[in-house]
Amino acid sequence: MNDTPGLIDQEAIVTLIPELAARLDTLSTRAELFQEANFAARCETLDELEFPIIACLQDLTQSHPSPAVTRLVRQARALQRQLAALDQCLFYQLQGLIRTGQSTPATLRAILGGYAGQACCEDASTATEYDCLDALTDGLFLTPGPLRETLVPEPEMMYYQKTPARIIWELAAKVTAGDVFYDLGSGLGQVPMLVQLLSGATAKGVEIEPAYCRYAQACADELRLTRVEFLNADARAVDYTDGTVFFVFTSFTGRLMQQVLARLWQVAQQKPLKLFSYGPGTETIARQPWLRRLNPADSHRYQLAEFRSDPTQALKAMTLQE
Ligand SMILES: C[S@@+](CC[C@H](N)C(=O)[O-])C[C@H]1O[C@@H](n2cnc3c(N)ncnc32)[C@H](O)[C@@H]1O
Repeated sequence: MNDTPGLIDQEAIVTLIPELAARLDTLSTRAELFQEANFAARCETLDELEFPIIACLQDLTQSHPSPAVTRLVRQARALQRQLAALDQCLFYQLQGLIRTGQSTPATLRAILGGYAGQACCEDASTATEYDCLDALTDGLFLTPGPLRETLVPEPEMMYYQKTPARIIWELAAKVTAGDVFYDLGSGLGQVPMLVQLLSGATAKGVEIEPAYCRYAQACADELRLTRVEFLNADARAVDYTDGTVFFVFTSFTGRLMQQVLARLWQVAQQKPLKLFSYGPGTETIARQPWLRRLNPADSHRYQLAEFRSDPTQALKAMTLQE
């Protein structure tokens, strides 16, 4: 199948329309797609429907309109709606489980893992893309709709981008129910919510953009996650004394990052803390003298990096500053 929309020539049309029709018929009759349990297969099919199938059909609608093309567009859209509706039923059930407190971290991990299949078992070291675990976990939360940002970010404040669910999955496995977890620059809040659900910890998100923070808190309230809290604050100005585990996905750079790390360092002088990072900010974090990296320093920057505060180094760094 020509999967390059916009470049369909006359010769290709002859074979493309029957190919698309055959593929749509095959997908429409794959019984397993209509069984609730097969979320991962549905996810793949929904991706394929979006691209290349519907993208090609839209191009054909413009360049070679015909009743056959119109019929195929309708068929593709109908299948898309049918599969999305099945997913929606599944999301309602999962939300109900969470809201009524019927799931524990272990049961939820097993249930979500069962639906996402391979996605949560894959090697996270190259997790630079979103996959079907993201589609599944996105479905647990309110659909964001248009969010009206009001903050004009400083140059060292990074824009919102979501940590892939696979990384959060890995992170949550390293957090315990007794921890107080902080996501520094929490955006739409998925990291604290999923960490709480999958580990049982108390989880907090610190987010400077009021619209993101309001949305995240609304999601947590809707799922009745009483141990999740979002603070609309500048990460440089928060009191972290109750925190035991921290996570940062490159929310800040330069001096701003140093200022946030200096606040964590203050906590590290009182008690040991764990810090996890993902993305390019890991390189700055790895240079802090009071932090020791547990996994190899030469790992991929889009791998979950794990640090522990080193009390002896923290004291040395403090002495040097005085
Ligand atoms: C790359 S996103 C990470 C979002 C979230 N942690 C995740 O992984 O899904 C960075 C977020 O940090 C927020 N941010 C940037 N500077 C901040 C600051 N000084 N204090 C709090 N949040 C900040 C941004 O608004 C943005 O939502």
